[in-house]
Amino acid sequence: MPIVTATRLVRFNAAHRVYNPTWSDERNQATFGKCNNPNWHGHNYTLEIAVEGSVDPDTGYVIDLGTVKEVAERELVRHIDHKNLNLDVPFMQGTIPTTENLVLACWRILAPHLQPARLVRLKLWETENHYVEYDGR
Ligand code: NI
Repeated sequence: MPIVTATRLVRFNAAHRVYNPTWSDERNQATFGKCNNPNWHGHNYTLEIAVEGSVDPDTGYVIDLGTVKEVAERELVRHIDHKNLNLDVPFMQGTIPTTENLVLACWRILAPHLQPARLVRLKLWETENHYVEYDGR
């Protein structure tokens, strides 16, 4: 049976400070630069959620992408949109809120909720110039 990948985008914005709390101010500044600003800064994030599966003969869909959007809004976006990733988001506590760590958290949260499709790739854009990808490995 052919397998098709379908992708839904969701958008949110959030504030953060990228720093290692066990390091000195000097080492944080040297490593993270302006991302270490103690008074926070924000990003408009775009998350691409790619799922794969066979095409349901009754619907012609791998999965209704409206369902993917609803899952993403309910499980993820409402917990992080307009929030401070360092202070407001329980699942980011204890991690440095880089795009890399955020995409891993997004995977853990979304992967169990996308049946009958299977989550195969997340692409998280932090700015229009850079993104990270994760495929579950
Ligand atoms: Ni940043």
